[in-house]
This record gives sequence, structure tokens and C-alpha cells, in this order.
Amino acid sequence: MKIDILTLFPEMFEATLGGSILGRAQEKGILDIKRTNIRDYSKDKHNKADDYPFGGGAGMLMLAQPIFDCLEAIGVTGGAPEKKPSRHVIYMSPRGRVLDQSRIRELASEQDLVILCGHYEGIDQRCIDYFGMEEISIGDYVLTGGELAAMVLVDSVARLVPGVLSGEDSAMGESIYSGLLEYPQYTKPREFRGMEVPEVLTGGNHKLIELWKYEQSLALTKERRPDLFEEYVQNTAVPDKDHKKILERYLNSDKMKVCASGIKDEKE
Ligand code: ADE
Repeated sequence: MKIDILTLFPEMFEATLGGSILGRAQEKGILDIKRTNIRDYSKDKHNKADDYPFGGGAGMLMLAQPIFDCLEAIGVTGGAPEKKPSRHVIYMSPRGRVLDQSRIRELASEQDLVILCGHYEGIDQRCIDYFGMEEISIGDYVLTGGELAAMVLVDSVARLVPGVLSGEDSAMGESIYSGLLEYPQYTKPREFRGMEVPEVLTGGNHKLIELWKYEQSLALTKERRPDLFEEYVQNTAVPDKDHKKILERYLNSDKMKVCASGIKDEKE
């Protein structure tokens, strides 16, 4: 997958793109991520990339010219709405549709993305219109720039690209993927400061372990994210009658609560 990131602060991406999982994926050639400094395309003698907004208002706006030239230099042709832009350009913006796992999955199936990071109060609207940009927000809060948001987008999309995660880290079995939040996990030692790992996990009975995990996931999801629980119940085929029995208990009780020592039915 090819990703071009356009930013005034390319060095901000060092920590996330340089090392670890995304670094390895780039070395393996699975990801091809390039950063371009928009300021390099400024025609101003002081390399200025922003100015005051027409009509007044707080702060500065990024100028259209360096953004247009930068996009065209990496091969993006615009002309929307008459012409379809040659590449999918995403503009990170608190005004955009809020990113969720289903949009992330769709983006992970694309081969080619361009991500534009705004700064200051945003960018000249003509950039968004001419290149038919998709505006994406990472949540209902405002950051000082689009760079952190772009990192969240790249990281969450890249981990779904086949080959980016190793088998052990596979994204497939994870919580939001199957629609449920993840069950609690433990590692060595079995006892730490008087707190024991739940017995079922050390007992070696794989069937019981699987059902325990499923029950924990259901309980957590129902308690913390009733919206996801509802969606899960509507859309997911339960694998067998043991799982079904557990799910039915949760459907029939409003009182199941997760507590430190396990799951408790408050009616008891
Ligand atoms: N830029 C500033 N705030 C943002 C947000 N919440 N999401 C995406 N880009 C942003």
C-alpha cells in the first residue's frame, strides 16, 4: 500500500513511522510511506505557507498555492466536481466524518492514499473542493494540527494490511474486529501481590478457556458499550450451542456485572 503524507511537520512522524511494526512493514516493502513538506512548495521568499482568512476570524489558514503545487508534484490531478481526482486525498479535520473501525477496514483495502495534515485554523476551502478531498476526524475534539490524527489513521489502517502484523499479532481475532471488546488477559506469574490469575486459564481445558473468554467479552461489552453489544446480537452468528447458552444468559439479564473477581449476577 502506498501512502503519501503532506505536512508542514514531517519530523513529527519519526516516532511512529520510523520504528517497530510500521518500520518493519516498510522495510519488507508492504508499505511505502512518504512524507512531503508542504513548505518546500511555497513560492514566498520567506517560505510562508499561511495567511489571514478573508472575512476575518481567529488565526491563520494554510494557503492554497503550496498545497496545490505539492499535491500536483506527487501526481494528484484534481478538477472536482467535473473531473474525478486521480488519487484519493484525505484531509484530517475535526469537521470530518468520525473515523471508526468499519471505515478503517474499507481504507485498508485501498492501494493508494494521500493524507493532508492541516495546521493553524485549517486550509483554504478551494483545496478541499478541487481535489474532492474526504474529510476525516479522529474524534470530537480539536488538535493543534492534523499530524497526530494522520498517525492514528495510518497506524489503524496499516495494521489491517496483510503481512503488516505477524501471525501472533494478527488483527483478526481482536475485540472490535469480531464486534466485542477484548476479555482480560494475564501473564506470568500466576500470583502477583496476592492477586491470582483466574483458575480456568491455568487449568488447560481449552473448551472452558474459550467459553470463559467469550463470557468475559460479552459481559464487558454489554456493560461498557451497549451499542456494540446490540449490534453484535443483531449481526453475529454464534458458533455453537455452548456459546449460544452463554449469550442467552446475557440477553436475558440486565443485571450481569463485571467485578474484580469475575462476573456476578446481581439478582443472586
Ligand atoms: N485536526 C484537528 N483536530 C482534528 C481531529 N479531531 N481529527 C482530525 N484532524 C484534526
